[in-house]
Amino acid sequence: MSDNKMIQIHSPLDDSIVGAVPALSREEVDAAVQKARKAFYGWKETPLNERTEIMYKAADLLVQHADALTELLIREIGKDRKSAKSEVVRTADFIRFTADTAKSIHGESIQGDNFSGFSKEKFAVVTREPVGVVLAISPFNYPVNLATSKIAPALVSGNTVVFKPATTGSLSGQELVKIFEEAGLPEGVLNIITGKGSEIGDYIVTHPGINFINFTGSTEVGLSISKQVNMVPLLMELGGKDAAIVLKDADLDFAAKNIIAGAFSYSGQRCTAVKRILVLNEVADQLIDQLKVEMVKLKVGNPLENQVEIVPLINTKAADFVWELIEDATAKGAKLIYGGKREGNLIYPTLFDHVTTDMRVAWEEPFGPVLPILRVNSIEEALEIANASEYGLQSAVFTENIRDAFYVANRLEVGTVHINNKTERGPDHFPFLGVKKSGIGTQGIRYSIESMTRVKATVVNLK
Ligand code: NAP
Ligand code: G3H
Repeated sequence: MSDNKMIQIHSPLDDSIVGAVPALSREEVDAAVQKARKAFYGWKETPLNERTEIMYKAADLLVQHADALTELLIREIGKDRKSAKSEVVRTADFIRFTADTAKSIHGESIQGDNFSGFSKEKFAVVTREPVGVVLAISPFNYPVNLATSKIAPALVSGNTVVFKPATTGSLSGQELVKIFEEAGLPEGVLNIITGKGSEIGDYIVTHPGINFINFTGSTEVGLSISKQVNMVPLLMELGGKDAAIVLKDADLDFAAKNIIAGAFSYSGQRCTAVKRILVLNEVADQLIDQLKVEMVKLKVGNPLENQVEIVPLINTKAADFVWELIEDATAKGAKLIYGGKREGNLIYPTLFDHVTTDMRVAWEEPFGPVLPILRVNSIEEALEIANASEYGLQSAVFTENIRDAFYVANRLEVGTVHINNKTERGPDHFPFLGVKKSGIGTQGIRYSIESMTRVKATVVNLK
């Protein structure tokens, strides 16, 4: 690692240096891809039960390292303690379930005589093959879990992996890789490359040694990747503007609790955070009263000191962006119900009523603690605004009427609709996907394994 520059990782909590990672050169990126290519054939031929044993061991090791990883997540990405610990434990469960699932995926054989003109003398043995070298690119907000949700299904299926973590999050990413190595992964099967996406991103996504790209991050970067690659399959989970639609007959106390938890945990730095409320006018005032009760309970501060939901945003650029949205809404006449205060990169939880469709906060993804309320006169108007978004990750609908719930769910252009619950990704074996600019393809344990394998037919012709 001769003339490498090192990148210092600063904590979003107090700007202290948490550690440093190398900014790899192109030659070092080439070497990582080469190692992954070289290891592929051996790993692909490793019996599935040996691959799954390594996964189970990695899950156990992750649990053993949970406290240390939790502390690192708190300092590196400013996550609150409860969410950080739950990210690690959830990831161990994810790995185990992935190993279990891989063992339950079988191929099939198809008889020729099912099709007219063919006999039993011809049949196809259909198996699933790994795609080769998977490039896994993860975002800052779940450095352990969203990295593993790519790495584990890829590896268990016989692929090798080149893993590019978000720069803020790459210290946690390094620890994760060490755990997989300690669990017994052979040399070259999982290779971490660190360095800024703006410097090595275009190079790695267009690298001829990459067979598949599994990316989670912003729509902006996702679009840029999809414009550059040719004939390389993509699996992408991108931005969102998840709506919580509250109908006249909703349990408003329950809806308010769910919406506030869904919007503000980890300061709203979650792709599935509730990012707008569309409420029927008749119940808007009552809902807002309940929302205020819940907002008061949100704890703001430094997660190293207390259990808090609202933490400083990941960097100043992110905080400036959220603040711009708040200023734009204020200037255009939105009514501030709560919050609207900033101390450095800490933005207090902010709720706006009477948000209109000419305001940026009605459409843009803040990835921060600001929640707009748009009042609507009918279910149709709620659907129209919900579907006018360029995003289509998830939505929630709150109602006591199952017919209305399905009416709304059937018309929403999103990957997942939650009836009477906040938007969220788990459980991790459910399908998880975005439509429109929220993504390409489907994740979720079985779906991720299927996405990162291809079908192969070997046709037998009896003589
Ligand atoms: P981001 O800025 O798009 O970064 C995501 C990853 O892409 C990082 O590893 C980043 O590396 C890398 N990257 C940056 N430029 C690149 C390029 N030109 N080529 C290849 N890779 C490049 O996103 P983020 O700020 O980490 O995460 C927040 C965003 O992710 C939000 O929009 C959120 O909605 C979305 N997200 C979506 C999901 C989902 O499942 N739908 C989940 C989580 C987050 P560097 O850090 O080095 O720049
Ligand atoms: O940030 C995006 C994650 O996929 C959200 O996952 O709903 O479990 O917080 P979560």
